[in-house]
Amino acid sequence: MENFVYEYPTKVYFGKEAAKNHLADILKGFGSNVLLAYGGGSVRKNGVYDEIMGILKAAGKTVTEFTGIMSNPTWEKVQEGAALAKECKADLVLAVGGGSVIDCCKIVCAQAVTEEDLWEVEMVRHSVPSVAPIPLGAVVTASGTGAEMNGGAVITNEAVKIKGGMFAAAPRFAILDPMYTMTLPASQVISGAFDTLSHAMETYFGRSDENNVSDEVAEAIMRNTVTNMRAVLNDLHDYTARSNLMWDSAMAENGILKVGRLTDFEAHQIEHQLGAYTDCNHGQGLAVIHPAYYRHIYRHAIPKFARFARNVWGVSGEGQTEEQVAAAGVEALAGFIKECGLPTKLGEFRSREEITPALLKAAADSCNTLLNGYKQLTHEEIYEILTECL
Ligand code: NZQ
Ligand code: ZN
Repeated sequence: MENFVYEYPTKVYFGKEAAKNHLADILKGFGSNVLLAYGGGSVRKNGVYDEIMGILKAAGKTVTEFTGIMSNPTWEKVQEGAALAKECKADLVLAVGGGSVIDCCKIVCAQAVTEEDLWEVEMVRHSVPSVAPIPLGAVVTASGTGAEMNGGAVITNEAVKIKGGMFAAAPRFAILDPMYTMTLPASQVISGAFDTLSHAMETYFGRSDENNVSDEVAEAIMRNTVTNMRAVLNDLHDYTARSNLMWDSAMAENGILKVGRLTDFEAHQIEHQLGAYTDCNHGQGLAVIHPAYYRHIYRHAIPKFARFARNVWGVSGEGQTEEQVAAAGVEALAGFIKECGLPTKLGEFRSREEITPALLKAAADSCNTLLNGYKQLTHEEIYEILTECL
């Protein structure tokens, strides 16, 4: 195993009525000024806003609202939130939403306490900001990203067309009530869950292949995610399935799978740049990219892809070579994506701009090429992969 240091920075309150049961007590640990952040209005419609605001008011908090955080949050939106957090002297930022709201707030918490431009610090100078961010809490209303239990944030800088991962403090606490996700449209439930599956795969297909308990845990999370995606396809409001998907989401990206090994994350690098150009839904972008990417690399890791085929997809492999078993695993993944109604081609999802070869070239050329997986891609190969997704 690789050496590691592991710590859980986030206290999780999971289950029905988690906010009602715990939030008032949690709030006693923070000062009186709260910046309450949310997205485009779903929480206003489904009653989550009323419930959280009621608890904040009953606790005597002074609440300032930061609203309209979009999917794929922008650097500009971070600036707006940071200015508000400064102005209201926020003692706590409470992010109520999915990965986009939580990510935006992670950087708001750090940007509000420094005069330095954190994009410049992290993304241009590749330095680590030395700030003590405002404490952040998360109330999750859309699961999949695992953003509630890690310190990473994915922000889109529209001026330079980069969607990139930044680091800031993880939430101090996270409220995970599966009931809060019940009003999510089916397409988002499925694309969020596919993001979870992707996170587990990205870790599983990182180096090295040494015997590692993380791989066994990743297989369990992948199988559980697949089972429960099938369950919600059958009954969208299946509470048990929603609960499992919510915890799978946190488990897949809270670092537990990453200990003692590297995480590939190349499919994510490609999706992020595709997202920078198209503003596509994150899980849908990944669904299109993963099979094409794995068809491209599986021959460089036949034993691992064959293990994936057998242990995650139940491929028997009888009478097949290991290479054929490995390929069958990739095709089982592609078949599952189809079964879920996720997009399989770039043209099938909403895009801000027409997807042309020139757009794909620009996205490919601006993509990070990591060396954590089995093969470091060139920008030409990324372009090929994206072209195969057309
Ligand atoms: O904005 P509102 O009106 O709230 O609508 C949202 C949004 O349209 C809606 N929604 C959320 N909760 C709802 C609801 N609709 C009805 N009922 C509810 N209870 O869902 C839509 C999608 O929300 P969003 O937060 O954008 O989705 P997701 O959670 O998939 O987050 C995606 C962002 O997270 C980043 C992605 O790149 C993307 O920017 N990621 C963050 C990661 C992290 N920090 O660890 C890891 C991931 O790999 C990912 O990159
Ligand atoms: Zn993801």
